[in-house]
Amino acid sequence: MSTTRTPQVPASESISPKILYFGTPVALITSLNENGVPNIGPVSSAWALGWTLVLGLETTAKTTANLGRNRECVVNLVSEELHEKVEKLAPLTGNNPIPKHKAEKFRYEPDKFAAVGLTALKSDVVQAPRIGECPIQLEAIVPRSSPQILRTLRVHTLIAG
Ligand SMILES: Cc1cc2nc3c(=O)[nH]c(=O)nc-3n(C[C@H](O)[C@H](O)[C@H](O)COP(=O)(O)O)c2cc1C
Repeated sequence: MSTTRTPQVPASESISPKILYFGTPVALITSLNENGVPNIGPVSSAWALGWTLVLGLETTAKTTANLGRNRECVVNLVSEELHEKVEKLAPLTGNNPIPKHKAEKFRYEPDKFAAVGLTALKSDVVQAPRIGECPIQLEAIVPRSSPQILRTLRVHTLIAG
């Protein structure tokens, strides 16, 4: 006679989180402000589905406004060594005035490249610069109305050595 053993697994429960989010690697999105100065927006909601990029972008971020207006950006993937730069970027926004809900934690920064010491490199097909320190840089356009869905046009990767 065979016996069926129930595997011992922890008990689970059904929950309703306010945000369904399990985290993805950090990317720095470069886009151009109205005055042509590049902005850098850190995000962790970025996925590639083939050459389509999907971003989870907050509506009040300067980055979102720039993507809506210029229809292009660079998605720069960060490596561990850049964590201090990401921390420095975290409380900065290119939005002036600062949206009310960010007023306590954010400050306006018109030139984030200079503020945190990152290198702007000319892109091949978009106006927004790439970030030289980032190991992978994806030049992309906004082909339809939503600034959250991008089409990758060019992929750059650092040459090892
Ligand atoms: C590590 C990290 C991850 C973040 N992930 C996101 C994200 O996925 N989506 C988003 O809209 N904002 C995200 N933020 C917050 C934006 O960086 C913030 O809205 C900032 O204002 C963007 O800069 P900007 O207003 O100049 O565009 C993240 C911030 C940090 C530091």
